[in-house]
Amino acid sequence: MTVVVTGANRGIGYAVAAQLVNAGAAVTVVVRDPTQGERTRSALAGGGNQVSLVVGDLSTVDGIRSAAEAVREACPHIDALVHNAGIWPSRRLLTDDGLEQSFVTNHLAPFLLNHALEPVLLASGSRVVQVSAGLYVKGRVDIDRTPHGLDFHPLWTYADTKLCNLLMLPRFAERWAGTPVTINAVHPGVIRTGLGDRRGPLGAVLRLVKRRFDDAALGARPVVRLARDPELAGRSGEYYHVDTPQPLTGPATQADLGEALWTQALSLTGLAPTTGARLPR
Ligand SMILES: NC(=O)c1ccc[n+]([C@@H]2O[C@H](COP(=O)([O-])OP(=O)(O)OC[C@H]3O[C@@H](n4cnc5c(N)ncnc54)[C@H](OP(=O)(O)O)[C@@H]3O)[C@@H](O)[C@H]2O)c1
Repeated sequence: MTVVVTGANRGIGYAVAAQLVNAGAAVTVVVRDPTQGERTRSALAGGGNQVSLVVGDLSTVDGIRSAAEAVREACPHIDALVHNAGIWPSRRLLTDDGLEQSFVTNHLAPFLLNHALEPVLLASGSRVVQVSAGLYVKGRVDIDRTPHGLDFHPLWTYADTKLCNLLMLPRFAERWAGTPVTINAVHPGVIRTGLGDRRGPLGAVLRLVKRRFDDAALGARPVVRLARDPELAGRSGEYYHVDTPQPLTGPATQADLGEALWTQALSLTGLAPTTGARLPR
């Protein structure tokens, strides 16, 4: 089994990669820092396991494109693609594209990777797994303002961008219906990682609260399950709260918003507007 995991140098992503490697999978980790990436690769490859490294920064459109190209070169076959990389920003930071960094990393990166890797995914019959967040229910999206972080909030922008990402789930499922490619999203639980770490009083409170959270290995388990459990073969378009499939609710059911975000994401990532949600046949 060959699996690609983004953001695999720490937290849930590292635990996902480690569990897959232990299960005998060949794993390609996508990491933005080359030194960290090499450290991760050699730690995972310790027992002679097959682990390769792709260095890629998923916070700019060019970075996502280069990462996709490098993944295509490293992996002619992909059984599972795990979109794990994510960021909970404490302040508004615009990337070179003039877009808010978590909007790009959490939403545009999986969107563009799915498109750029689509020929490999189709040829491989891949499972695409999106690491989502239950906080999507608190998300609010303004299609003109959210991409630029114009309503930036240190707590809620994360939820907004996770909502954008989740609104793509039914569209990719529809796009790949009738093909062997499946896509599902999972909230991994409330897990003790570096996510959202920050300075100041809020950071101190967060550090205290996190002591009660579950460890990364537990958060990785439902992600790995979606990537490889034979019982889930063929299931697509589902959102899992840890192990339990749940219907999307509230803002994630706004089909018009989903369509508008899809069209916008095509344009922001430089994909042809004719690509549409349906796969050209
Ligand atoms: N922890 C939770 O309770 C929880 C709950 C719900 C959902 N999630 C989701 O789980 C996923 C993993 O989060 P985590 O909790 O493990 O957080 P984490 O420890 O902060 O790990 C995030 C990972 O994403 C990578 N990343 C961030 N920006 C990137 C970029 N521009 N390019 C490439 N990689 C990038 C980070 O790399 P660097 O080391 O280089 O920063 C890191 O490896 C996220 O999608 C998050 O939204 C987590």
